[in-house]
Amino acid sequence: MDFKKHVRVIEDFPQEGIHFKDITTILKNGPVYREVIESMRQMVKHLDVDLIAGPEARGFVVGAPLAYAMGAGFLPIRKSGKLPGETIEASYSLEYGKDKLAMHKDAIQPGQKVLIADDLLATGGTIATSIDLVKQLGGEVVGAAFMIELTYLNGKEKLNGIENFSLMKY
Ligand code: PRP
Repeated sequence: MDFKKHVRVIEDFPQEGIHFKDITTILKNGPVYREVIESMRQMVKHLDVDLIAGPEARGFVVGAPLAYAMGAGFLPIRKSGKLPGETIEASYSLEYGKDKLAMHKDAIQPGQKVLIADDLLATGGTIATSIDLVKQLGGEVVGAAFMIELTYLNGKEKLNGIENFSLMKY
């Protein structure tokens, strides 16, 4: 399937010069959404995965269905102030703006194998922070899976050699 034709590109959002990749056009199309998740599952099915972690918010709509499809647990990596239990936090900068991500301190048992999933790899700030949090909690990051990679932003450099997969590249 040509997945790219289902991604809507919106110019100058949220700032001038950004070609925003809008995946809501995938999400609202049942057969395409299902095919995207199934194709991502195929890319990572060789990995031994206990948990999939997805950063808020778009990481949830990729990570949770992928976890369901793989029979793995799902861990939400949330923006600061949203998780009710004890958390660890880390700051990061984005293609546009800055934010802080958090995970529950007891989210991971030491040595559990974690795949991180998100809709987009842009500058790599979000994935680098997610990797950092998972490692701090004792998890082993076995891979990173993205729906879309913006290769021109070189986010891969922030992955420190972690095996990574993306369904679409721009
Ligand atoms: C977007 C996207 C990724 C991240 C990629 O999330 O969903 O998580 O940016 O950018 P990076 O590689 O430069 O870090 P955003 O923080 O906009 O939040 P959202 O999912 O709530 O829209």
